[in-house]
Amino acid sequence: MKIISVVGARPNFMKVAPIHRAIKKYNQGTSKQQSVALIKHLICHTGQHYDDKMSKVFFEDLELPRPDFYLGVGGGSHAEQTAKIMIEFEKVLLQEKPDLVLVVGDVNSTIACGLTAKKLHIKLAHVEAGLRSFDLEMPEEINRILTDRISDYLFVTEKSGIDNLNSEGVSDHKVFFVGNTMIDSLAYYEEKIANSEILKGMGLGAQDYVLVTFHRPSNVDDNSSLQKLVEFLNDIGKLKKVVFPVHPRTKNNIEKYKLNKFLSNSIILCDPIGYIDFQRLVRDTALVITDSGGIQEETTYLGVQCITIRNNTERPITVDIGTNQLIGTNLNKALATANKILNGKLKIGAVPEKWDGRAAERIVEILEQG
Ligand code: UD1
Repeated sequence: MKIISVVGARPNFMKVAPIHRAIKKYNQGTSKQQSVALIKHLICHTGQHYDDKMSKVFFEDLELPRPDFYLGVGGGSHAEQTAKIMIEFEKVLLQEKPDLVLVVGDVNSTIACGLTAKKLHIKLAHVEAGLRSFDLEMPEEINRILTDRISDYLFVTEKSGIDNLNSEGVSDHKVFFVGNTMIDSLAYYEEKIANSEILKGMGLGAQDYVLVTFHRPSNVDDNSSLQKLVEFLNDIGKLKKVVFPVHPRTKNNIEKYKLNKFLSNSIILCDPIGYIDFQRLVRDTALVITDSGGIQEETTYLGVQCITIRNNTERPITVDIGTNQLIGTNLNKALATANKILNGKLKIGAVPEKWDGRAAERIVEILEQG
């Protein structure tokens, strides 16, 4: 069996790395039994994210091999980016003729490659299927719905995913509740994360700071929203130091609207941080404030307090049983909640079912059985 897995943007790498490892392990286990076929696993990087700090460092941290194909599509409008990926990925598929294409998450590379594969009658697997924010203003929601609609294997991370797919009429036999491959990475690298020197390097102690990430267009693309965010960060900075690794989209906009000068001294702005160091920052922070999807899950797994500045989440388990609090976009409310947390009013959470570091192995077992 030949599988091509697609990565494109930063949140994809930690989801595919455990699958690559699980396939390797499967091949090692079966190579002694002559009657069992090996799985040939190829990785295609679309180049949606191209900065070293958004891409290369993750290959190193997650011990991913150099991608077999690099499409180099870069940025552009959604239509441009999606179309460019499709044109380039089609060439790869025509040359390689894989049995299956595996896509993860909800980025433009996910739908672009999924659609291209399906039109060539190649089987499609979607890892992290079934998540829904029910907000079609989010490009990711469109990507999720469309990818799920055409997938043959839908690998689900939490039970809400099964319910969502059921209510959309997806046949049960395509849906597999396997757990979360992103959490596989976190579990696998626990020791390496504990040994990261990032805190020392930044002169920080555990629980000494608040970790912040913002990159959603709705929060950072518009001048007045971004200005309010800067004021909010300054307010948080009065409570504790703030560590803010800045995504290129946010950085470009902070520069464009000349907001740098308004950020107080308690805000430590830095470039995007690699996987291991970033997870060390998450592990030891007093609080995460974010608009990311994946970080809601990582904090829940680690039992770290998280405030999500969004009106919805496609990952409700992190709120239902995890440490995540969905606050909406009212920053006064977010400040009040942060204040409570930093004064000891913590949300106690639990680890969701099947977030046990074995999701990728389950996926490979299912794919291998066809
Ligand atoms: C994408 C995903 C989003 C995910 C996020 C994680 C979609 C629709 N969105 O959003 O779901 O949460 O990645 O980071 O796929 N840029 C650089 N260097 C890079 C990458 C991007 O400078 O390596 C710039 C681009 O030129 C563009 C901006 O950052 O101006 C946004 O990049 P893009 O890939 O379009 O979307 P993200 O906001 O990163």
